[in-house]
Amino acid sequence: MTFDLVAHDPQSKARAGVVHTAHGAIQTPIFMPVGTAGTVKAVQQRDLKDDIKAQIILGNTYHLYLRPGLDVLRAAGGLHKFNGWDRPILTDSGGYQVYSLSGTRKIKEEGVKFRSHIDGSQHLFSPEGVMDIQRTIGADIMMAFDECTPWPCEYDYAARSLDMTHRWLKRCIERFDSTEGHYGYEQTLFPIVQGSTFKDLRIKSAEFIAEQGREGNAIGGLSVGEPAEMMYEMTELVCDILPQDKPRYLMGVGTPANILENIALGVDMFDCVMPTRNARNGMLFTTQGIINITNKKWQLDFEPLDQELGGYVSTFYSRSYVRHLFQSQEMLGPQIASIHNLSFYLWLVQQAREQIIAGTFRDWKDKMVKQVMTRL
Ligand code: GUN
Repeated sequence: MTFDLVAHDPQSKARAGVVHTAHGAIQTPIFMPVGTAGTVKAVQQRDLKDDIKAQIILGNTYHLYLRPGLDVLRAAGGLHKFNGWDRPILTDSGGYQVYSLSGTRKIKEEGVKFRSHIDGSQHLFSPEGVMDIQRTIGADIMMAFDECTPWPCEYDYAARSLDMTHRWLKRCIERFDSTEGHYGYEQTLFPIVQGSTFKDLRIKSAEFIAEQGREGNAIGGLSVGEPAEMMYEMTELVCDILPQDKPRYLMGVGTPANILENIALGVDMFDCVMPTRNARNGMLFTTQGIINITNKKWQLDFEPLDQELGGYVSTFYSRSYVRHLFQSQEMLGPQIASIHNLSFYLWLVQQAREQIIAGTFRDWKDKMVKQVMTRL
């Protein structure tokens, strides 16, 4: 994997670049739709490509390991072959899902013992095991096994957890570097900065992660309930330490405003369930602001969801019709809303990229943060 920096915004720390992977290039800044169980919920691959213009999607080690399981993924020839997505895939390591989804879990030096949220069966995720699983999934970008600390978190807990995440990272690197991909193409491993909202821990972690010299780096443990300003403070601190010439991925972030503010601080890659999860509840992001499509206000609005976005779904279906689909609990409602919201997120980062290249990002960002977060 390589990363070319194309442009810097003169008035912020925003950058535009290109990440080259075995499954093609990714123009940054980028938003990566979340495809937890090998599917971006309610969205076909065809629509991800043609309408949404997704360049890379996410998968989750935790879910894919439990179902369909490694035997199926191996037999299919990896996740790309299994789900038909031939562009880049990034997999999260389970270092987040194992804490948020599984019932009982025990964190030890060896790894995390947990029970499946599907059938209650017992499993162990270790740094080595999680590397092996992501090799079998065949993700272009694999994530290190970490502990995402809850917020708020005691300093002593965060400090001890961070040291363990760093020791786990060393074990991930050792396993990754001594194994090869199963399917004949190159994979890469991103380490994850942790440290909760403690500045000294974040500095220590960013320095440790930078020293590992991997091809890209991630920032975890944010957007877990802390105030947005605190998240921005941590992102800025960490971005200033992580190498300039490697992509930076902020995990699990966020709202359109969060994404724009973090791009301004030097983040290149984002993922979040928000556009798809909120779509299924009728919350639509548009270039003019946020719509709750179930409100009576839209009953007689025959304008398209968002003419400015330009995609098929966003310009074809009216607000009135999509409201009707939600009122009637038709499956098509959440499908249209998911495609629309993802189209908006991909449009937003594409616009950000163009503004960075033009040198006008900062002023545009300040205007857009207000505009896209307005409740219509
Ligand atoms: N997704 C959102 N935050 C995190 C994190 O801190 N670690 C991992 N592995 N995944 C995440």
